[in-house]
Amino acid sequence: MSKAQIGVYGLGTMGSALALNMAENGFEVAVTNRETSWIDDFVTEAADLAGNLHAHDTLEAFVADLATPRVILFMIPSGKPMDMMLDAIIPLLEPGDTVIDGGNADFHLTRARSARLAEHDLHFVGMGVSGGEAGARKGPSMMVGGTPHSWQQLGPILRAIAATFEGDPCVDLMGPDGAGHFVKTVHNGIEYADMQMIAELYGLMRHGAGRTPAQISETFAAWNDGPLKSYLVEITADVLSYADPGTDTPMIDVILDAAGQKGTGRWTVIEAIKLGQSASAIEAAVGGRAWSAEKETRGLVEDALGGDRAAYDPGADDLAEAFLCARALGYAQGFRILRAASEDYDWGLDYARIAEVWRAGCIIRSALLDDISDAFRASPPQGELILAPAFVALLRRTLPALRRVVSGATAAGHAIPALSGALAFADSMRQGRGTAAVIQAQRDRFGYHGFKRLDRDGDHHGPWWD
Ligand code: 6PG
Repeated sequence: MSKAQIGVYGLGTMGSALALNMAENGFEVAVTNRETSWIDDFVTEAADLAGNLHAHDTLEAFVADLATPRVILFMIPSGKPMDMMLDAIIPLLEPGDTVIDGGNADFHLTRARSARLAEHDLHFVGMGVSGGEAGARKGPSMMVGGTPHSWQQLGPILRAIAATFEGDPCVDLMGPDGAGHFVKTVHNGIEYADMQMIAELYGLMRHGAGRTPAQISETFAAWNDGPLKSYLVEITADVLSYADPGTDTPMIDVILDAAGQKGTGRWTVIEAIKLGQSASAIEAAVGGRAWSAEKETRGLVEDALGGDRAAYDPGADDLAEAFLCARALGYAQGFRILRAASEDYDWGLDYARIAEVWRAGCIIRSALLDDISDAFRASPPQGELILAPAFVALLRRTLPALRRVVSGATAAGHAIPALSGALAFADSMRQGRGTAAVIQAQRDRFGYHGFKRLDRDGDHHGPWWD
């Protein structure tokens, strides 16, 4: 038997699916797992594909079975397990080998691990994989951070297993070290914002317009036929169409309204703030999940303050326009974070290419991403999506709807933090002269911090010090 072209360590949901995807595409894949009892079951379930799988019980045999320079993909929980595996595998590797972390990892750790492996003439790749289990099995979107050497090794395999958009594989080298994991982190931040906006729109249709989940499902399904077409809208239409088999009530009504989060949305916000950015729609989404998890407290606050929400029905068309506007602003905020990080870490990120890699396979895939890649290809002023001519036109058209929905919903007492966060961003950015002069005056008044003047150079203080 010839040696394997790639090794996959970790046969959980994502690792198994990726290994089978590679095997199906004709690659010889070495596989192993910490719990060795899983390995036989995995190979048995692989059925016809088992011929391309090389199963091993030990790390030593797994590594020895790989063609050199080796490529080893780890699909294991992020954090400490990755460092423990590096401790174990580094002594078994040779210069030129590449180790990939395909989980969602904090890009700072990825940078540190890249530096650690480089000391041994080894290469570390932080790779974001999006699309869940189905994506991993049939075609994920992948964001790779690493060296050109690793990309040369990996590229052919990843291009073969990736989702494609009009024939173009949704995978690329984003940049060095932590760039791939950072792009994936921001992808998830955008994912959080989009999910929160969809939940808010559901809330307006359900509690404001009094529509049933089945009717709302039809609205989302109709939206999925136009400019709002996206995977998240599609699956929302799907989940809202189900009834609970046991009770025949809408399935959505028996699910506890407390959202989980593994941390990537929060990382996006933390990094945005560290980079001097603010992403109001993403922040609102992370905060919205945190508040949702405080189920008991919310019940008490409802008793204390009253939970009334007035009827409010702007109609599906206005909601659709408002969503398109807020979604575009959420994406724009994500790309602003990417730009800030690229400048700070000198990654040279290609924003058009990132949008292209997100057009298929990933959770945020949507019709809008095609327009976003076109907008970035045409180099918008200052690299700002919201200044790209097509987006200026889109925002000019849709902002009135977002404003109507935010003001109408707020007046009626509905919680719409992500939609209003997006609007606040647009309204703040479209003021050439804002209100920060007051903050500068306050800072000078209490701390002698000084300010710039519009009419003269230099640093100045107010007459309150005379
Ligand atoms: C993807 C997803 C995925 C993420 C889960 C759970 O792109 O496939 O972003 O990577 O881990 O959706 O994320 P949360 O638990 O934080 O919602």
